[in-house]
Amino acid sequence: MKLWGGRFTEATDKLVEAYTASITFDERLAEVDILGSLAHVNMLGKQGIISADDATSITDGLSKILERLRAEGLPFDVADEDVHMNVERLLYEEIGPVAGKLHTGRSRNDQVALDMHLYLRDATILIVDKVRDLQRALVDVAEANMDVIIPGYTHLQRAQPILLSHHLLAYFWMLDRDASRFSDALLRIDMMPLGAGALAGTTFPIDREEVAKALGFGQIYENSLDAVSDRDYLLEFLSASSILMMHLSRFSEELILWTSEEFGFVELADAYTTGSSIMPQKKNPDVAELVRGKTGRVYGHLMGLLTVMKGLPLAYNKDLQEDKEGVFDVIDTLVPALTLFDGMVRTMKIRENRLRDAFARDFSNATDVADYLAKRGMPFREAHAVVGRLVLACIEAGTNLAGLPITVYRDASSLFGDDIYEAINTRAVVGARTSRGGTAPAAVSVQLAAAKERLSAKNERARG
Ligand code: ARG
Repeated sequence: MKLWGGRFTEATDKLVEAYTASITFDERLAEVDILGSLAHVNMLGKQGIISADDATSITDGLSKILERLRAEGLPFDVADEDVHMNVERLLYEEIGPVAGKLHTGRSRNDQVALDMHLYLRDATILIVDKVRDLQRALVDVAEANMDVIIPGYTHLQRAQPILLSHHLLAYFWMLDRDASRFSDALLRIDMMPLGAGALAGTTFPIDREEVAKALGFGQIYENSLDAVSDRDYLLEFLSASSILMMHLSRFSEELILWTSEEFGFVELADAYTTGSSIMPQKKNPDVAELVRGKTGRVYGHLMGLLTVMKGLPLAYNKDLQEDKEGVFDVIDTLVPALTLFDGMVRTMKIRENRLRDAFARDFSNATDVADYLAKRGMPFREAHAVVGRLVLACIEAGTNLAGLPITVYRDASSLFGDDIYEAINTRAVVGARTSRGGTAPAAVSVQLAAAKERLSAKNERARG
């Protein structure tokens, strides 16, 4: 007999039972479901809605089930449809008919919303912690390699040389915004829907503030219809996750390029790479590739839930059961991606020899030749044209700007002196970009200090 079987005279079709059940995936809400029920029953007892004895029996029964869940797991049955009814059935087996008083003044609609808020609150706090760990890894690697220069690109064409630290810290700031997005979403994840009942509230004198306090919620939904049909907090979580995955995917793409022999900037540790079953020489950046690839499923889950929500009338609709698998999958995708990235970044080897040669044949100091003329009074546009012609001369002569004789420079402009060579060596080029947020070691040191300050400041609402 189903918990809701009173008005039915025929058995549920087996396929319908399997199709409508959620226990195969919502079983991971079991712990928060029981914790929510414990707070609810405690309030029912305190308010005199059920007797103190009944509240105690139910509390003891739920505590035993919680212990069993933690020790060995629970025997869930698809015939009981979802985690809420499975737990209630187990409670009945434990304490008998008094179990039936637990659901007083409550519906599965506000119960499942409560469970998701509780579950996602923990997951979000964990993800913010993991983002912070990865930021810390970036700071450490940046700080340990402050003198390493790499080519900087626009259009994936050599643009200007930059510090490797500067490049890594760019990801630090992306992740900083990610952490801040999750922390902000947490304000709305941290809202309690319980007490909304099925949709309209309840006839029992419940105390929602008491339950919210017991469960550590910062806010309570003010509208019962909104409380049971809101999934914005999941959408915000999926949206923050999508942006975070996009950042990790861009970083992955760069690591994949950088580890190729064509770039040769870094080598990933053996522990973070895999081999080929046929080509003995291969060392593949599979982790980075999979993070890049798994970004697709995270975006997909965001689009999936947005689509589930559009056109849903108030209040609860069974469609809302579709909110879970995507969110769980995103958590299961993000958490290991962040953990692996932390280790992968910390253990990667910078190929300094290759990087020293990287500038032998490029023109990434051309802007500095133009800046040299502009600083001596030539309008920058004119200087740009002069240097463009010098680059052409280099290409014809098979050399670079450092290899051009001074006579060629002086033919191009009398403003050139012997100090041009000093001004365009790679280290000087990087060192000259001292503007705030620029790539000069002096500027990157300021940035690094700001990054460390961000990590130590507790200026976000993430709880922990
Ligand atoms: N398993 C359901 C869900 O995840 C729980 C709420 C069911 N409510 C109902 N009225 N059928 O949404």
